[in-house]
Amino acid sequence: MSEMPTYTLNDGEQLPVIGFGTVGLRGEEGIAAMVSALEAGYRLLDTAVNYENEHEVGEAIRRSGVPRDEVKVTSKIPGRHHGYDEAIRSTHESLERLGIARLDLHLIHWPNPSRDRFVETWEALVDLQRDGLVTSIGVSNFTDAHLRRVIDKTGVTPAVNQIELHPYFPQPEMRRTDADLGIVTESWSPLGKRQAPFAEAPVAEAAAAHGVDPGQVILRWQLQLGCLPIPKSATPSRQRSNLDVFSFELSDEEMAAITGLAKPDGRLFGGDPDTHEEM
Ligand SMILES: NC(=O)c1ccc[n+]([C@@H]2O[C@H](COP(=O)([O-])OP(=O)(O)OC[C@H]3O[C@@H](n4cnc5c(N)ncnc54)[C@H](OP(=O)(O)O)[C@@H]3O)[C@@H](O)[C@H]2O)c1
Repeated sequence: MSEMPTYTLNDGEQLPVIGFGTVGLRGEEGIAAMVSALEAGYRLLDTAVNYENEHEVGEAIRRSGVPRDEVKVTSKIPGRHHGYDEAIRSTHESLERLGIARLDLHLIHWPNPSRDRFVETWEALVDLQRDGLVTSIGVSNFTDAHLRRVIDKTGVTPAVNQIELHPYFPQPEMRRTDADLGIVTESWSPLGKRQAPFAEAPVAEAAAAHGVDPGQVILRWQLQLGCLPIPKSATPSRQRSNLDVFSFELSDEEMAAITGLAKPDGRLFGGDPDTHEEM
């Protein structure tokens, strides 16, 4: 595979424009799926304390033979570890489970605003970055208001905001907020997970027109929006096709038609950042 393009973050670091989601990939089967993803060319693996597979992620990197410094690893601090000391401890535990000395990107998984400890948690990430345990720091599921609070308190802008984003929920306002603040938008459930709109006309027609499959159309749409999708697949053929999105381009009309699939209730589950409690 040719060299993967990258996004440059506001801290000067680079991330591949497509990453690999690891939810549900556990045990030996999970390790095998991740090794196969690394062989397919993924160089950004997205895990979290709550996926309970950090050990598997580290093990997959070691077994793949890909040098550690060529793979970016993201993890996330769960709600129950919010707070300054808790977040520092959580990060050390993640590094231990992964078997690595430094995380490439570490995120606050959800803001959990009802507990209101995400600002302290962000202060811990700022210090972890200063101390070299984490290269880049970011957030996930943050709204405009949450972003502004952490920036106002610390003067440090998250490098990344990982949010739900797929054709049924294309998040134009959050994309604009992130862009205005210089934050890269990472898209979780970038295909739409189990409700992926593969059969919707704008997706199916673009797939036929470009001779690609519907998953490739959606991931290409993500890139042309300027987002960083992290598709998950345990299937080697899909892992490969999900990376093979650099040899065609969607027209403005195709882009608009796919974005037009947005639904008012397009969220996958009750994941409203203002009310969701991620423990
Ligand atoms: N920050 C957060 O709060 C948050 C929340 C949710 C997810 N995430 C992250 O985002 C990652 C991706 O999200 P996700 O796993 O929910 O959803 P997704 O990547 O949109 O979809 C994954 C599903 O689509 C299938 N699939 C993958 N490629 C396909 C293709 N080309 N054609 C047809 N089906 C395909 C997979 O099946 P097979 O595996 O059987 O191939 C799997 O069932 C997660 O793994 C996780 O790392 C973060």
